[in-house]
Amino acid sequence: MILLRKIRVFSLFILSHYAVKFCIGGDVITASEYIQDPGSIISSGGLYRLGFFSPNGTTNRYVGIWHNKIPVFNVFWVANRENPVLDSSGVMTISDAGNLVILNGKKQVLWSTNVSTSGANAKAQLLDTGNLILQKQSSNMSTNDTTAWESFQIMCDTQIAKMKLSTNLRTNEKQVLTSWKSPSDPSIGSFSISLEPLNIPEVFLWNGTTLYWRSGPWNGKVFLGIPEMESVYVDRYTLVDDKEGYVYLTYSFAEVSYLSYFFVRSNGELLQPFWDENDKWWRIDWSTRASDCYVYGKCGPFGYCDAKKSPICSCLRGFEPKKVEEWSRGNWSSGCIQKSLLQCDRLKNGSTKAGKIDGFVKLENVKVPNYAIWLSPLEDKCREQCLSNCSCAAYAYDAGVGCMYWSGDLIDVQKFSYPGTTLYVRVAHTELEGKRDLRAIIAIAVVVATVIFSIGTFFAWQKSKKRGGKDGEQFSKASSENMLGGSLSKVNLQELVLYKLEELAAATSNFSDANKLGEGGFGAVYRGRLLNGKEIAVKRLSGASGQGLREFINEMEVISKVQHRNLVRLLGCCAEQDEKLLIYEFMPNKGLDAFLFDPLKREQLDWRRRFNIIDGICRGLLYLHRDSRLRIIHRDLKTSNILLDEELNPRISDFGTARIFGGKEDQADTLRVVGTYGYMAPEYAMEGRFSEKSDVFSFGVVLLEIVSGRQNTSFNEEDQSLSLLGHGNIGRKTMYLRWWTIKFLLDAPRLRS
Ligand SMILES: *[C@@H]1O[C@H](CO)[C@@H](O)[C@H](O)[C@H]1NC(C)=O
Ligand SMILES: *[C@@H]1O[C@H](CO)[C@@H](O)[C@H](O)[C@H]1NC(C)=O
Ligand SMILES: *[C@@H]1O[C@H](CO)[C@@H](O)[C@H](O)[C@H]1NC(C)=O
Ligand SMILES: *[C@@H]1O[C@H](CO)[C@@H](O)[C@H](O)[C@H]1NC(C)=O
Ligand SMILES: *[C@@H]1O[C@H](CO)[C@@H](O)[C@H](O)[C@H]1NC(C)=O
Ligand SMILES: *[C@@H]1O[C@H](CO)[C@@H](O)[C@H](O)[C@H]1NC(C)=O
Ligand SMILES: *[C@@H]1O[C@H](CO)[C@@H](O)[C@H](O)[C@H]1NC(C)=O
Ligand SMILES: *[C@@H]1O[C@H](CO)[C@@H](O)[C@H](O)[C@H]1NC(C)=O
Repeated sequence: MILLRKIRVFSLFILSHYAVKFCIGGDVITASEYIQDPGSIISSGGLYRLGFFSPNGTTNRYVGIWHNKIPVFNVFWVANRENPVLDSSGVMTISDAGNLVILNGKKQVLWSTNVSTSGANAKAQLLDTGNLILQKQSSNMSTNDTTAWESFQIMCDTQIAKMKLSTNLRTNEKQVLTSWKSPSDPSIGSFSISLEPLNIPEVFLWNGTTLYWRSGPWNGKVFLGIPEMESVYVDRYTLVDDKEGYVYLTYSFAEVSYLSYFFVRSNGELLQPFWDENDKWWRIDWSTRASDCYVYGKCGPFGYCDAKKSPICSCLRGFEPKKVEEWSRGNWSSGCIQKSLLQCDRLKNGSTKAGKIDGFVKLENVKVPNYAIWLSPLEDKCREQCLSNCSCAAYAYDAGVGCMYWSGDLIDVQKFSYPGTTLYVRVAHTELEGKRDLRAIIAIAVVVATVIFSIGTFFAWQKSKKRGGKDGEQFSKASSENMLGGSLSKVNLQELVLYKLEELAAATSNFSDANKLGEGGFGAVYRGRLLNGKEIAVKRLSGASGQGLREFINEMEVISKVQHRNLVRLLGCCAEQDEKLLIYEFMPNKGLDAFLFDPLKREQLDWRRRFNIIDGICRGLLYLHRDSRLRIIHRDLKTSNILLDEELNPRISDFGTARIFGGKEDQADTLRVVGTYGYMAPEYAMEGRFSEKSDVFSFGVVLLEIVSGRQNTSFNEEDQSLSLLGHGNIGRKTMYLRWWTIKFLLDAPRLRS
């Protein structure tokens, strides 16, 4: 969930307090160049400021560090948290012993760095990373100054880039984030955040000594309990084991200009503000409070929290409330218990007949329970391993971790609206039976039908082959429809909200022409409004054409797996009677083409907006190609497939022709060339060969259109040299060259890091 709500920026009043005469200018503090309230120093690049401030609601004075050039969201580091200066007589200077100290008017030490340096030669410097360091100056010209102390070692309530959340494995000593007591009191509050090097490292948010929220296991790239990480986080998070007994979590940004950090509020909310350069405001990119399920163990042991349901708590399948009365009153803390005994328990219980072996209930897109007890690497062995150990209650597999197994109580299982991990919960065979029989019948029916159909098709084909001629087409259509039957069952409808046909008909006034937004390649798109007032766009597949069905399934498969702010969001689908419908969030501004090629609307797209649109498309494409879990080639990128939201941010849409590439695959050939002439790369249009490069080619055409405001095909199509591509001698090679250059520039910072 990307929360783009605007944030009231607090303590702006701080800034008005600076009287220029006290500001000593530089970025250092020494025994002679000290700062006196309300003075301050600024890092050399001007990014951060250190000085005296008062939080909202108090007159106590504290020394802190905050952003200098832009409005302050929070003061992210405070020195004398526990010991404020009670009046405006405070001074921060270097003591005789070489420590950085804060003194009050009576020269009493309120705060000190408490390290021994070699006396008055020491100096403190505020760096452009936001780090304040105390340096011991070397009297020896041939050696460098050494850092005796740094503020990054003592975190307050904020982790900015390059700070380390660390744990000493030997002593279990932790470098933690601690919340303020209240918005007006920076002293240590009850919430803290620590890195827990369990079997699989995890970040915990504590309320005192009670676990309050957890990040889920670290898989080497992201935390499994923060599924948004994959889509939102363009930066690199690393968990480092320094081999000297420390593990730490740190992060930095691929784009230097990206300004964002983690901050734990005094009320226990962990959030990630980020600076929106276009809006000149802080927005909240992510927060633990985005879902009602965030509190650890909200639904108790074996409970299942789904924020979209009411009530949000239910028992896992095969389980029932432990205390029915309390449960029904909404007190879920006691959780659930197994309905039927597992095989191991039946044996232990003295039964001589153990009966059938246990099975597993599959839960998709969930936050896995707390504390996986053991691990093994092989995916295909997870199930047997779990069945063979009586204490195994559930398992899950993640490529970055391997098999994870849980025993005892399963706590903190939540449903995500983003793609998450699949969890398998062990239950007695009796809990699965009813369903399995039905499934078996369906499976057999499908197999039989397929066999009959295939035989039929085969003979039809034989016959038509003898007749020769254009009946081959008939075969390809028939068999492709057959294939569709199979893939429909593969698509995971559970990941999406299933809408009722009547609901959608009502929302779109029975698919009236007045609500029609446009006609896509495979059907019309309608605007609609659900009963709860939410606006949606409904894509209705035309007729039962086999071709459209293939794209429908494809689109569902692709887009249900990807989430990014520059990709259009699929809300759900509907497959009833002969109707196939896809439901998207509604984009009031329609396609980019509607703006770009309309002389009046074009005026709204100034250069800044155009740049923003190009940037957004780049990000979306980069995500599809590189950053998502899957490598996806869109194959039909064009201006009409770029939708604009209210703020004219671009979103790539129409995944009907997209292709998912497996691990190492980076190029493929197809006999079915789909796409739009004018945007297709020559080798794709002519030879059916497609790869990332063909998308980049299409993107190049889109870019030229955005910049020129003219449609590629608006030039005389007969004369190649007069199309936009031919215009100005921008040939195919030049296009690639330019686009690889830009792609390289975009990628370069991450390649280096
Ligand atoms: C300070 O706190 C008061 C009361 O809590 C609030 O009304 C005011 O808006 C706050 N000021 C700022 C700058 O946040
Ligand atoms: C420095 O030492 C004093 C006395 O031992 C202690 O009260 C204070 O908290 C220490 N300050 C820091 C910043 O560690
Ligand atoms: C200065 O540093 C060099 C190299 O570390 C060392 O060899 C030399 O003895 C030092 N001189 C003094 C005066 O400390
Ligand atoms: C001293 O600092 C400079 C610049 O940061 C660095 O290049 C050099 O290697 C350092 N010398 C020693 C002895 O650490
Ligand atoms: C944190 O714990 C304290 C003491 O146990 C409790 O009073 C408070 O309500 C808790 N805060 C939250 C947000 O749960
Ligand atoms: C909820 O249930 C637990 C035990 O099942 C009990 O200790 C607690 O008091 C109950 N809380 C409320 C608010 O009823
Ligand atoms: C088996 O266990 C259940 C509950 O744990 C108990 O009620 C039952 O009496 C036990 N049966 C035997 C034969 O021990
Ligand atoms: C089952 O799992 C437990 C918990 O990790 C472990 O101690 C035990 O050795 C395992 N038993 C077998 C038979 O693998």
